[in-house]
Amino acid sequence: LRNIGVVGLGNVGLCTALCFANKGNKVTGIDLSTERISTIQNGKSPFYERNLTEYLNTAISQGNFSCSSNYASLLNMDFIFITVGTPNLVNGSTDLSQVRSASKSIAKVIGRSREFPVVVVVKSTVTPRTTRKIVKPILERYSKMKMGVNFGLCANPEFLREGNAIEDTLHPDKVVIGFDDERSGKELAAFYESFYGSDSKIILTNTETAELIKYANNVFLATKISYINTIARICEKLRGSDVKKVAQAIGLDSRIGPKFLEAGPGYGGSCFPKDVKALITFAANLGVSTELFHAVENVNAEQVEHVVSMVSRLLRRVKGKKISILGLSFKADTDDVRESPAIKVIERLLSLNAKITVYDPKAMKRAREVLGDSIFYSPSSREALMDSELCIIMTEWKEFTELKPTDFIAVMKRPTILDTRRIYDPWDFQGKTKFAGIGLELE
Ligand SMILES: NC(=O)c1ccc[n+]([C@@H]2O[C@H](COP(=O)([O-])OP(=O)(O)OC[C@H]3O[C@@H](n4cnc5c(N)ncnc54)[C@H](O)[C@@H]3O)[C@@H](O)[C@H]2O)c1
Repeated sequence: LRNIGVVGLGNVGLCTALCFANKGNKVTGIDLSTERISTIQNGKSPFYERNLTEYLNTAISQGNFSCSSNYASLLNMDFIFITVGTPNLVNGSTDLSQVRSASKSIAKVIGRSREFPVVVVVKSTVTPRTTRKIVKPILERYSKMKMGVNFGLCANPEFLREGNAIEDTLHPDKVVIGFDDERSGKELAAFYESFYGSDSKIILTNTETAELIKYANNVFLATKISYINTIARICEKLRGSDVKKVAQAIGLDSRIGPKFLEAGPGYGGSCFPKDVKALITFAANLGVSTELFHAVENVNAEQVEHVVSMVSRLLRRVKGKKISILGLSFKADTDDVRESPAIKVIERLLSLNAKITVYDPKAMKRAREVLGDSIFYSPSSREALMDSELCIIMTEWKEFTELKPTDFIAVMKRPTILDTRRIYDPWDFQGKTKFAGIGLELE
């Protein structure tokens, strides 16, 4: 069992910290936001993630987790994980300012705890060479110590999915460890082996390969989504065809696999859009053609417009019509609305003067921070549907999958459903309501 510091208590940092703590490690979390720290200290999660509050309270009551804004509490750690944010700059490249500032603050504390050769672990998604060319020099300069001698350094990208973060952290498909000095790599691998057991799939490599793996992984998944959304558009023009059947069949090919083949309103969230952009910029700087990645991005951007054009076809005139939106988060089981297609569709429909009423089981608060009073917020799906002329399913929340045609018919003015997530069987709605879905021929 180890002493572990985790710097940056966002979705990745807090989940990682609590999973480590719940297996008995002593974990100290650091975040610059004092508001976030006091929320966490009070046993509340600053964002919605299944089981996270329970994990937090168990870890606090067992005395395995504490947090503060003061880096001095990171003295004498075995590992310090950097999990701060890495958003895009306007030119698409990665903004490493949080990583730089965290590295500088860490350097100052490891400089004061010389007897412990701590291993600093870059878990944030960073462009290749960041660990070696940016983090390492900052750590050496401000600690006045040498990497590989007085402290260790690894790149260890994270692959967890929001909404399934704890499960993914406890049972990852793989652990990627990049190192430039062998002792650091061995130390971190030994920790993960003790954490996950000896049959865990650990990929050992150098730091830039580890950093690239994260982008290659995410951009591949984004590519699958844009691919199936393109097939969905073909289905919409091919009478009688259905993208769900196509996806089901091609997903059974073990070379393809069934996941991330769900046609929908496009990918969103805090990772895919920014990671696709960052890889485009990075590859272009190396002189590598980025045509494929641009296509992935363009298809995704078009998908929002595609949903809006389906709305126009269904309603003919959008102006003044009441439209209900079910789902605001970028996917189910999270309250994250960053780059959410639902938010983008709403903004477009508002520009066409639609009257929008929304409901989401978890994301209302965060959506309100973005959309303010431009729309109506309903306390339930039933109320959101009241007197409306179109319902758009934007997020695949389980509670929406349980709605029956009668639930729409009972309260809507003219029941029309646009199922962008394909959560319903269109046959159930046949003859009862007007129904359209992504990847289905529009009536
Ligand atoms: N969110 C995901 O599902 C996910 C999955 C895999 C990888 N990642 C990557 O992990 C990293 C973190 O993502 P996130 O979504 O958790 O980020 P986030 O933006 O939600 O959280 C980052 C946290 O770091 C804190 N912070 C910023 N600068 C700091 C500093 N100098 N010292 C201490 N704290 C500081 C912020 O206050 C914030 O709480 C990113 O690089 C992201 O690309 C995210």
